[in-house]
Amino acid sequence: MNSPSISQSTQVAIVGGGPSGLLLGQLLARDGIDNVVLERRSREYVLGRIRAGVLEQGTVDLLRGAGVGERMDTEGMVHEGVGLASENRGFRIDFRALIDASVMVYGQTEVTRDLYQARDVIGGETHHEVENLRILDVDGTRPSLEFELDGKTRSLQCDFVAGCDGFHGVSRGTIPTDVLREYERVYPFGWLGVLSQTPPVDDELIYAGHERGFALCSMRRSDLSRYYIQVPLEDRVEQWSDDAFWNELRRRIPAEAAERLVTGPSIEKSIAPLRSYVAEPMHWGRLFLCGDAAHIVPPTGAKGLNLAASDVYYLWQALRRHYHDGDASGLETYSDTALARVWKAERFSWSMTRLLHRFPEQTAFDLRMMRAEMDYLMSSVAAQSALAENYVGLPY
Ligand code: APR
Ligand code: PHB
Repeated sequence: MNSPSISQSTQVAIVGGGPSGLLLGQLLARDGIDNVVLERRSREYVLGRIRAGVLEQGTVDLLRGAGVGERMDTEGMVHEGVGLASENRGFRIDFRALIDASVMVYGQTEVTRDLYQARDVIGGETHHEVENLRILDVDGTRPSLEFELDGKTRSLQCDFVAGCDGFHGVSRGTIPTDVLREYERVYPFGWLGVLSQTPPVDDELIYAGHERGFALCSMRRSDLSRYYIQVPLEDRVEQWSDDAFWNELRRRIPAEAAERLVTGPSIEKSIAPLRSYVAEPMHWGRLFLCGDAAHIVPPTGAKGLNLAASDVYYLWQALRRHYHDGDASGLETYSDTALARVWKAERFSWSMTRLLHRFPEQTAFDLRMMRAEMDYLMSSVAAQSALAENYVGLPY
């Protein structure tokens, strides 16, 4: 490896230019804390990712506080409830009546676009197509990143490293293997997702459990719908024609929704695996993990982006106290604080996945338990309130 030809320094080096890295960078910059974002991909590539967009109130408040909530407030859709269905019996969880709360439906791609535009405005330093990034000396007092950019080897010295580089990033691997503890469940099915330029089937989302498998009716805008069906892990997207997808979706959602369904050509179609995963600790020396770098949830609870937001909130507050008050306590407790909320969201996402999906090894008794749980949900205000408070987001 050539010795770095260009060296610079910053206070916080942020690895990853997705939602976690950009939101942290925005919050730190607004507090006068210098930071540099290093992203492996181009901005266009990052903005080409199709991702869920159900924002908890905490995420909405954080984006507004970061000065990036304007377009969300204009184009986002406030949802005061969500539909659940099982074997054609549909019912609504009324967030407003149960717990006086709501969520914001606004695509993650748009959140990321807003964050990039905000970073342009404040002149935040961002490098794209960074290669071969190495994180060095995080167990010392002066960590650094080495990487290649435009064919030159560069070194970035910093006070702290924020590992916001997602599940396949390099940050988590910097934690020694005898320190890192990993917890994982890989689900025996995937989600086949379709994006279509069609009006959504309903004003709110519908999560449907069915003997043929799970289905979800979601949306991006009033003219752009997002649908999913559970498929076997071995399925390939090429096996699914648009017609086959629409026909299977119709079978799994309540009849009155199936009758309203407006179909159209898929403008995006893909299969994603489902996983629950948590890495502990989320802090090692001067390295702090945020978002998918530390945890993954099955999308059934729409928690991925929202957990990234609460991690970022905790780390931002800790760094702010360190730099402004000389108080390192937030940094010392960051991992425990973030993980306390992560595990509760992991539980909720796992429970929603277990409630609504068909698992290969399920017995007749298991299916009866699922039906009883859905019956209890339908008939109990307490049960619906519990689901509502988890779905709209537990407090930070
Ligand atoms: N060097 C620099 N950047 C990297 C590296 C690396 N070695 N490895 C990965 N990255 C970049 C990726 O290209 C990506 O843009 O880090 C970014 C991580 O972004 P995400 O994977 O979106 O993770 P995060 O920012 O934590 O956002 C979590 O994204 O995956 C969804 O469901 C998830 O909604 C959740 C959200
Ligand atoms: C989506 O709109 O892509 C979406 C919404 C809610 C989920 C998962 C995905 O739980």
